[in-house]
Amino acid sequence: MTTRILTGITTTGTPHLGNYAGAIRPAIRASQQPGADSFYFLADYHALIKCDDPLRIQRSRLEIAATWLAGGLDPDKVTFYRQSDIPEIPELTWLLTCVAAKGLLNRAHAYKASVDKNLEAGEDPDAGVTMGLFSYPVLMAADILMFNANKVPVGRDQIQHVEMARDIGQRFNHLFGQGKDFFALPEAVIEESVATLPGLDGRKMSKSYDNTIPLFTSAKDMKDAISRIVTDSRAPGEAKDPDNSHLFTLYQAFATPEQCSEFREELLQGLGWGDAKQRLFQLLDGQLAEKREYYHQLIARPADLEDILLAGAAKARKIATPFLEQLREAVGLRSFRTSVQANTEVKKKAAKSARFVSFRDEDGSFRFRLLAADGEQLLLSRSFADGKSAGAVSKQLQQGGEADVRVEGLGFGLWLNGEQVADGPQFDSAEARDSAIESLREALAPQQD
Ligand code: TRP
Repeated sequence: MTTRILTGITTTGTPHLGNYAGAIRPAIRASQQPGADSFYFLADYHALIKCDDPLRIQRSRLEIAATWLAGGLDPDKVTFYRQSDIPEIPELTWLLTCVAAKGLLNRAHAYKASVDKNLEAGEDPDAGVTMGLFSYPVLMAADILMFNANKVPVGRDQIQHVEMARDIGQRFNHLFGQGKDFFALPEAVIEESVATLPGLDGRKMSKSYDNTIPLFTSAKDMKDAISRIVTDSRAPGEAKDPDNSHLFTLYQAFATPEQCSEFREELLQGLGWGDAKQRLFQLLDGQLAEKREYYHQLIARPADLEDILLAGAAKARKIATPFLEQLREAVGLRSFRTSVQANTEVKKKAAKSARFVSFRDEDGSFRFRLLAADGEQLLLSRSFADGKSAGAVSKQLQQGGEADVRVEGLGFGLWLNGEQVADGPQFDSAEARDSAIESLREALAPQQD
């Protein structure tokens, strides 16, 4: 069973060590797991909300793209793209904007923080607040829902946004899904152990605190930053307290458990802070030197990076384009060519004559097929250990249970209560697949008369 993982990274800065340990590295690792289907993208539309410096946006997109690839992201295995190369995303943003409650967005932390600041300063509550900032969570919901992501790895500050994406997606499903779910509801995933690295001064590592350790700029920059890590004033020979040392916390985020306990022991034994910093540098450099070199090679070939990202966008749009077509259809943005009346007549007929056929597989397991009126196979179920569970699933489907269709390449799967229960056939074009999905939806739609 595949889990779709999706995350975006806002292109306003140069990634630092904290971004790497907290977001990039866990995302790359997750993409290497069997069964992972990962979507990673540069959230450059989001960047425009926070930054009106074109050169900085441009530079940051390049650096972030190079960082992810140098960090080990395999663009053939994952879908890696720029948000702004997918025109379906702003279009979906609008469809979602039309169902998102303003009251929901009023509660977004980032917006509320701006309002609170204004009130404190005696200003108009919305002073300096753009519509971009206010609707930030809707754009993010479109990023996530466009690809039916199941898991969204994010920092803690983004959990609320993922929850809003669920709310907005649910509302759209409810209004337009007619018993089916267009959107899978995403879940935020936080990597507990390293979600936030401390910076040089012990506060969260962040550009806004100016306390970051650079990632790939140069070994020297990294070393210089490490030398500025704030420690207590205990002299060499005096026992250090690893649990109250953010230098140790940084070390932990990159070391094996054995390396950690060794380092802890040495600190307890009085290792000097200067030597401790040297250890940290060696640990980091050992893991990052090769990647750093690859990073600089990539930055030197921006046209190649462009090609990689455009190929990623094409891959993403294979999904986004037909899916958005379904969504437009659902809200009523339909072609005048297809008469609504005639359409419903035909479909009702098809729906009436679609039938479930159960059978026993060679291996003794139980399955069923859903056949259209003309005998065309719409679905083949997964294997069930006994006839009863197979029957229960087909019954739920017949009764219009909460099933959703998820496109997978030129095929599709049918999901019920968070589990894949059946597969559609493989098609040789996206059009053929989408029209089969359409027939399937009709066949499963609760019948009105
Ligand atoms: N808002 C996220 C951040 O600042 C970036 C982002 C944009 C994102 N779209 C997303 C993250 C979709 C996850 C999913 O960190």
